[in-house]
Amino acid sequence: MSAWPSTGQDAGQDAGQDAGAGADPDAGADTALHVLGPLEQIPVGEGRAFAVAGEQVAVFRLRDGTFRAVSAVCPHKGGPIADGTIDQSEVVCPLHQHSFELATGCSTTGAGPLRSYAVSTDSGGNIVLQLPKPPAPANPTE
Ligand code: FES
Repeated sequence: MSAWPSTGQDAGQDAGQDAGAGADPDAGADTALHVLGPLEQIPVGEGRAFAVAGEQVAVFRLRDGTFRAVSAVCPHKGGPIADGTIDQSEVVCPLHQHSFELATGCSTTGAGPLRSYAVSTDSGGNIVLQLPKPPAPANPTE
């Protein structure tokens, strides 16, 4: 007879560790910073689309030199927001001309809202986008 004491409790419970990719010490607890490259890649008065951490983001360089970032896919019928025309405060979707506030993403013409993101430039002349971190995976306690 072999009667080894057995714990019987070693069925794996995941530790719930995070992926650790792209961790940025400068970001806040709920956001991550993403460097998108040199600001010169976006001509003044235009926008460019970026794929960042699973998000499609349209970044615009305004005539006053500041940047704005909103989601890149129009909530109306999927138009390319980065190809829209802008002034200092709004972008107009090129497909059906719905208009959105660049600061908030809210539509001024009755469409659903775009998401808006914080964007800035760093001391090296790069565009830096701030995205919310995805929620942590649920950690089963039982
Ligand atoms: S897809 Fe943007 S206004 Fe229709």
